Amino acid sequence: MAVRIINADMRDALASIPDESVDCIQTDPPYGETALRWDQRVPGWPALVRRVLKPTGSMWVFGSFRMFMETASEFVGWRNSHEIVWEKHNGTGLFNDRFRRVHEMAAHFYRDDAPWGGVYKQPQFTNDARARVVRKKGRPAHWIGATGETIYRSEEGGPRLMRSVIYARSEHGSAEHPTQKPLTIVEPLLLYACPPGGTVLDPFAGSGTTGLLANRHGMNAILIEGDETFTPVIRARLDGDAPLLASIEGAA
Ligand SMILES: C[S@@+](CC[C@H](N)C(=O)[O-])C[C@H]1O[C@@H](n2cnc3c(N)ncnc32)[C@H](O)[C@@H]1O
Repeated sequence: MAVRIINADMRDALASIPDESVDCIQTDPPYGETALRWDQRVPGWPALVRRVLKPTGSMWVFGSFRMFMETASEFVGWRNSHEIVWEKHNGTGLFNDRFRRVHEMAAHFYRDDAPWGGVYKQPQFTNDARARVVRKKGRPAHWIGATGETIYRSEEGGPRLMRSVIYARSEHGSAEHPTQKPLTIVEPLLLYACPPGGTVLDPFAGSGTTGLLANRHGMNAILIEGDETFTPVIRARLDGDAPLLASIEGAA
């Protein structure tokens, strides 16, 4: 398994990645909500990454609702399947004339020329089900106690589908990057979308959270980061996390 780190503008770096070669895309683009150097939106990026995604693949994108609304026209060629909400322990203090924002979103997309049924997806579970009889259209893979075609009994403490609102403390105060995402938020998204041994692309890698998790789960990762100050951070995080397992190629 390898993590490839490319220090370049993603628009240039993508040219070296073959068509339909990655299994999934997991990314956290600049939201464009501040004047900070690394927070400038990159017009056209969703169309560029679509080319390198296999038809069976899909893409998770972190963002704010405002970012998705303002850039919706850039997601031509993509279909949205659903989204998750990351509930944080603290707020982002950008405005004092609105509700205090204590959440961010990640939206899931797949190619509009690919049938949803053929898209790789591995639903995630948490072991906190309550014992009860439930009616479902389909039988979740890990549930037991089927009593008929559509009625099942869940076990106390057994698995249930992971909920779309996920709480995690932000990395504020301990992060290597100002917008570093918690591992516990990114991990279920990656496991949902990337098959075992597959390749994930993160074209806005920041401190390399996607690569760290890919490495832990035996996936390959291509990390593109435009700011040269963050590529050593990515390497240090990978080395420090799993030095015997990491195989790091790429940028100086
Ligand atoms: C929101 S941060 C990603 C943080 C990441 N999720 C983490 O956990 O560390 C977005 C990153 O995209 C990078 N970036 C912005 N424009 C870029 C471009 N055109 N090409 C490559 N990287 C870019 C920024 O330098 C920044 O580090």
